[in-house]
Amino acid sequence: SAAEKGGWSSFMRKEVSEQPEAVANTLRGRIVDDEVVIPELASFGDDELRSIRRITVIACGTAAYAGMVAKYAIEQWSRVPVEVELSHEFRYREPVLDEHTLVVSISQSGETMDTLMAVKYAREQGARTISICNTQGATIPRESDAVVYTHAGPEVAVASTKAFVAQIAALYLFGLHLARVRGTLSATELATQLAELQAVPEKLQAVLGEAEKVEQLAHWMADTRSVLFLGRHVGFPIAMEGALKLKELAYIHAEGFAAGELKHGPIALIEPGQPVFVVVPSPRGSANLHPKVVSNIQEIRARGARVIAIAEAGDAAVLPFADEVLRIPLAAPLFEPLLAVVPLQIFAMELAQAKGLDVDQPRNLAKSVTVE
Ligand code: G6P
Repeated sequence: SAAEKGGWSSFMRKEVSEQPEAVANTLRGRIVDDEVVIPELASFGDDELRSIRRITVIACGTAAYAGMVAKYAIEQWSRVPVEVELSHEFRYREPVLDEHTLVVSISQSGETMDTLMAVKYAREQGARTISICNTQGATIPRESDAVVYTHAGPEVAVASTKAFVAQIAALYLFGLHLARVRGTLSATELATQLAELQAVPEKLQAVLGEAEKVEQLAHWMADTRSVLFLGRHVGFPIAMEGALKLKELAYIHAEGFAAGELKHGPIALIEPGQPVFVVVPSPRGSANLHPKVVSNIQEIRARGARVIAIAEAGDAAVLPFADEVLRIPLAAPLFEPLLAVVPLQIFAMELAQAKGLDVDQPRNLAKSVTVE
């Protein structure tokens, strides 16, 4: 009903706008005196967290992209190797597991059958399991050794939005906790990262304030038949999430690529007029990926692509080559995905709306897939 939507035209629009609170609520009470405090992880003692040799993240859909983003952060901070796998692939390949493997499942609903079966399997094989879940008392957390709840609030629209940013926030908290316990980050580094994390809600609010430009773009592009998304490092999973949103909501063929992979195939798809969203890494990043992505933009532009760059405020290097630039506030490189995803969500939602589609209930999809 209209009342349930709180005055918004759709649940999706409401949930997109609730993302600052979703992150703030997920962080609330869990950062105390520059340290991460997660009482729900009490069953995992510090010695046990120090004995972990690797982490396998399992999830489906949007949750899997949250896992891919977190892989970069958890490895960088804690130096524990992380792999991310789709639950339904993991379960059926006889994965190598032991008591030093931590399996972290991510599920908004906590009921996705593929992920549930994968968690049960991992436990049978002796792995330790943590669930990142948005639904109190759901089946996956009950089948896991511990749960870290995201507090995004109920997500009604089929396509996941606010749960995604809350999942990344929860995984970042976990990564920073692990880094402190394992001594891989200094107190100063830890405090810096925690401050970045706490600044995310306000920055998300700023991104939402810029929605109009994205909305206009989506309306101009309502006849588009195919859209490509490029990203690198943490921008790569965001490119895939942007493509997924467009498929789910607007039924448009879309694909996300790692920008570095362009020359190994996808560049053959570029023809005049092809729209390409590019998630541009910060020019302040230490890995110097920014010039590489700017040169990717030049390469596709030279072949006629219509480039829509998502770039941080003040990044002027993209201006000569991009047809449109969507700005996000300055953030440390690992925190950019939390901001860059928002214009992509809004783009897909608006384009679907421009086509007259039901953004809350896209055809053929279910909010929670409870069959294998
Ligand atoms: C379904 C939904 C997606 C969601 C995925 C995983 O396919 O349509 O939006 O990302 O399931 O759901 P979960 O509840 O496990 O996060």
